Amino acid sequence: MGAGLQGENKGTFVANGKRVAIVGAGPSGMAQLRAFETAARAGADIPEIVCFEKQADWGGQWNFTWRTGLDEYGEPVHSSMYRNLWSNGPKEALEFADYTFDEHFGRAVSSYPPRPVLWDYIAGRLKKTNVRDFIRFQTVVRWTEYDAEREIFTVSVEHLPTGETTTEEFDHVVVASGHFTFPNVPQFPGIETFPGLIVHAHDFRGAEGLQGQDILVVGSSYSAEDIGSQAFKMGARSVTASYRSAPMGYDWPDGFEERPTIERIDGNTVHFADGTSKHIDAVILCTGYLHKYSFLPDDLALTSPNNVYPDGLYRGVVWQDNPRLAYLGAQDQWFTFNMFDAQAWYVRDLILGRAELPSEAERSASIAEWRKRFEEISSDAEEIRFQADYVRDLLRQTDYPEFDLDRVVEIFLAWKRDKKADIMGYRDRVYRSVMTGTLAARHHTPWLEELDDSIERYLAEVPARTPQLAERRAAA
Ligand SMILES: Cc1cc2nc3c(=O)[nH]c(=O)nc-3n(C[C@H](O)[C@H](O)[C@H](O)COP(=O)(O)OP(=O)(O)OC[C@H]3O[C@@H](n4cnc5c(N)ncnc54)[C@H](O)[C@@H]3O)c2cc1C
Ligand SMILES: NC(=O)c1ccc[n+]([C@@H]2O[C@H](COP(=O)([O-])OP(=O)(O)OC[C@H]3O[C@@H](n4cnc5c(N)ncnc54)[C@H](OP(=O)(O)O)[C@@H]3O)[C@@H](O)[C@H]2O)c1
Repeated sequence: MGAGLQGENKGTFVANGKRVAIVGAGPSGMAQLRAFETAARAGADIPEIVCFEKQADWGGQWNFTWRTGLDEYGEPVHSSMYRNLWSNGPKEALEFADYTFDEHFGRAVSSYPPRPVLWDYIAGRLKKTNVRDFIRFQTVVRWTEYDAEREIFTVSVEHLPTGETTTEEFDHVVVASGHFTFPNVPQFPGIETFPGLIVHAHDFRGAEGLQGQDILVVGSSYSAEDIGSQAFKMGARSVTASYRSAPMGYDWPDGFEERPTIERIDGNTVHFADGTSKHIDAVILCTGYLHKYSFLPDDLALTSPNNVYPDGLYRGVVWQDNPRLAYLGAQDQWFTFNMFDAQAWYVRDLILGRAELPSEAERSASIAEWRKRFEEISSDAEEIRFQADYVRDLLRQTDYPEFDLDRVVEIFLAWKRDKKADIMGYRDRVYRSVMTGTLAARHHTPWLEELDDSIERYLAEVPARTPQLAERRAAA
C-alpha cells in the first residue's frame, strides 16, 4: 500500500522501481496524479511520481494571472484566460465521473460557471488527497533527453525563485503542458500603421477598458466569439469579427457584425476582402495557438495543427516513436476534463503494466485508421461524435467509472442549438448531469448582466443587482 500517500517520502508516491515525470499541473497533469492516486488508494504499488509545474499553483489555464508576456522570472506567462471568463461549454459535458459537481458544491449549480468556480471544482478533487506534495511548483522543465540504450529520460529543470538547475532520470515522461499558450500571430498588410491597441487573445485580460470603442476581433472560433461577446457586454461601441474561412453565423445583436478577412490596414481604417472598410480603435487577434514544446528535442516534440486527432500519437496519447513518452490533452477539445481523465487512466495502466501496448505495426495501423476517420469529418456534430468515440475507446481499456457518452453528445448538440438560438443568452440555459441526473440550477443573474464573476457572488443566495446592460451602454 502506498506509504507516500500517508505523507512520507514527500514529493513521491511509493516506488515500484520506476520513476515517472509529469510536465505540468493543469487539468491534464492533475488527472494523471489523480489516476495514480486512485490506483494507490486501491492498494496498487505505483511508481515514484514527480510533477513539474512552472506556475506557483495548479490548474493550468484556469490559474488566472493579471500578467501578460513574461512573468516575474522572465518566463512566458502560461494562461490565456481573462478575468471575466465563464465556461463556454456546459459543465455537464466536462464533469468528472469520479467527482461530481454535486459532491463538490453540495447543491445544484448552474451549467456555465465562471472561471474561479471551475478552478475550485478541479482543485477540490485533489484537495481530498495529498498529491499536491508530489508537485514541484515554480519549477520549469527546460530540457529532456532520451538514452535509448538505457531506456531512460534525463530531465533538466530550473527552480525559478532560486535559479537552481537540476537533472533527474525517469523511466516515463508524461507531457501535460497544454497547447493554448503560444500565440499564432498572422501578419496583415499595413498593420504596422495601426495606432491603437493590438493584442493577441493570449494577452487579453478583460474588456472593461474597451467601453465606447470600436473593436475588431480577428478569427471565427471560440476566442473571437467569446472575447467579442465580452467586449459587447462591457459596452464596446461596436464589435466586428473578421473571418478567414467562414463566418460564425450567429444572430448577433445590433452593434456586432461579421466581415470577411482583412485586406489591409491604413491607420485606424481596416479594409476587408468584400471591399468595405471600418474605423477600428482596438484589434484583438483571436487567431489560435501553436503546439510548442521547447523542452523536447525535435524527435519527441509533437507538431500538429490544432485538431482532434494529431498525427503520431497512438490512442491520442502514446508517442509512436517512443512509447515511454505520453501526451495528455494534445487534441482540440470538445470534451475536456473527463477526456483528460480517460487518457490519464490509460497512460497509468500502460505504465503499471495493466494494459498491454500493441506492437509498433499495430499501433501504426490504429493511428492510420483513426486519422482516416478524422479526415472524413465534415461537420461539428460529426467531430463531437468522433471525440466521444475516441473517449469511449479509452474508457474501455480502463476502470475509470463508466458514463453515458451518447448523452454527453446530446448535451453538446443542445448547446450548439442554444447558441444558435441566442448567442448572448445561451449561458443562462441549464442541462442535466449525466453523472448524477441533477438538473443544473438557474444562475441568479443572466450572463449578460452579471459583472461580478467571483465564486462568492456565484454561490450567494440573494445577490445585489448589477447595472443593466442598457444602462451601461447608454453611459458609454
Ligand atoms: C482562453 C481559454 C478558455 C478555455 N475555456 C474552456 C472552457 O470554458 N471549458 C473547458 O472545458 N475548457 C476550456 N479551455 C480548454 C483548456 O485547454 C482546458 O480546459 C484545460 O485547461 C487543458 O488542460 P491541460 O492541463 O492540458 O493544459 P493547461 O491548462 O494549459 O495546463 C498546462 C500546465 O503545464 C504547465 N507547463 C507548461 N510548460 C511547462 C514546463 N516547461 N515546465 C513545467 N510546467 C509547464 C503550465 O504552467 C500549466 O500549468 C479553454 C482554453 C483557453 C485557452
Ligand atoms: N470562454 C471560454 O471558455 C473560451 C474562450 C476563448 C477560447 N476558449 C478555448 O480556447 C481554445 C482555443 O480557441 P481559439 O479560438 O483561440 O483557437 P482556434 O479554435 O484554434 O481558432 C483559431 C481561429 O483563428 C483563425 N485564424 C488563424 N489564422 C488566421 C489568419 N491568418 N487570419 C484570420 N484568421 C485566422 C482561424 O480561422 P480558420 O477557421 O480560417 O482556420 C480560427 O477561426 C479552444 O479550446 C476554446 O474552447 C474558451
